[in-house]
Amino acid sequence: MDTQKIIELSEKFLMRTYARLPLIIDKGKGIKVWDKEGKEYLDFISGIGVNAIGHSHPKILKTIKKQSQKLLHCSNLYYIEPQIKLAEKLSYLSFADKVFFSNSGAEANEAAIKLARKFGVKKSGKENECYEIITMENSFHGRTLTTITATGQTKYQKGFSPLPPGFKYAPFNNLKGVERIISKKTCAIMIEPIQGEGGINIAKESFLKGLRELCDKKEILLILDEVQCGLGRTGKLFAYQHYGIEPDIMTLAKPLGGGLPIGATLAKESVASCFEPGDHASTFGGNPLVCACALTFLEILEEENLVEKAQKRGEYFKNKLNGLKKKFPFIKEIRGKGLMVGIELKFEAKNIVEECRKEGLLINSTSKNVLRFLPPLIVKENEINQAVEILNRVLSRRK
Ligand SMILES: Cc1ncc(COP(=O)(O)O)c(C=O)c1O
Repeated sequence: MDTQKIIELSEKFLMRTYARLPLIIDKGKGIKVWDKEGKEYLDFISGIGVNAIGHSHPKILKTIKKQSQKLLHCSNLYYIEPQIKLAEKLSYLSFADKVFFSNSGAEANEAAIKLARKFGVKKSGKENECYEIITMENSFHGRTLTTITATGQTKYQKGFSPLPPGFKYAPFNNLKGVERIISKKTCAIMIEPIQGEGGINIAKESFLKGLRELCDKKEILLILDEVQCGLGRTGKLFAYQHYGIEPDIMTLAKPLGGGLPIGATLAKESVASCFEPGDHASTFGGNPLVCACALTFLEILEEENLVEKAQKRGEYFKNKLNGLKKKFPFIKEIRGKGLMVGIELKFEAKNIVEECRKEGLLINSTSKNVLRFLPPLIVKENEINQAVEILNRVLSRRK
């Protein structure tokens, strides 16, 4: 089917929830993808952070083949070996003792929210006493009804009232602002250490440390949403490791399945034990195929030293971008950690994204005027140079 036909059929048969660019990615290998006409692109958005080990990694393909010949799905009525191995590995690598598996970031956050509410019931001894969760302005936690409510941006909530009760919003990086709205009803504070959809905003060390202290003092939970910033993206395996603190609950998704859908909610035993059999479930959650791939993904991170590379290549990339900032006065700020990078422009970024695409570079924009870069962690310096050259060319036309 040709490009035009696919676009026509999409308009006809798909619900119109996405504003898509006119591109059909036909295949991918490493950091590159190709469209239906064979045009090559450097993928610096990697499926919004999913393809962290690049496209079609040979070890992932091997795992898919091996596991799919054995068992694709089996329900959580039974024990699933790859799921248990993955939980053990995640627990070994992080602060957590226990894991619940689902299929997406939003679902991982739903589980975190439900777990925090059960913690609130245990703490207060009653239903409806201690259930409120404080989240941040400009945050993003997913698209289910509860996670759009957790999301501190009204644009995602408009048209979907009534929203579930129990969420309050505090200004990001403002400890007093959080303190002011904590009450007896509060059971948790939920935050992305680096806001992704909100425009690549980094939590200050004093802020996250302050939140941890506040949670300890008030005996409430700190939930970190590391769906976008977790698993090596920022140059540490988990973003919380930059801050010298540990959360009580953390959510992961995007790159964990090596390209396949998975969500994970991790918690310390004292919190995880609030869930009892029957409290939460997911038919596909933690299925053998995706868990086998996630185990392979974690092996690849280690074997190819990708977390350290993300840190080094991130520095290299930001230095190059700072070169562009000196040249173009309309660049307001370059910010990010590791390979989670944003350029804030003084104007809307949408057209720059499309011009970069035409020149063979895939990126996207968030929060109207921020260009977002989430290249695969396998990116090399010469590929960063190529991307910066394209960006330079596109931005030069704006001068
Ligand atoms: C921080 C964060 N949380 C949650 C989500 C939702 O993840 P999903 O789209 O897999 O449901 C996203 C997606 O962009 C995200 O960036």
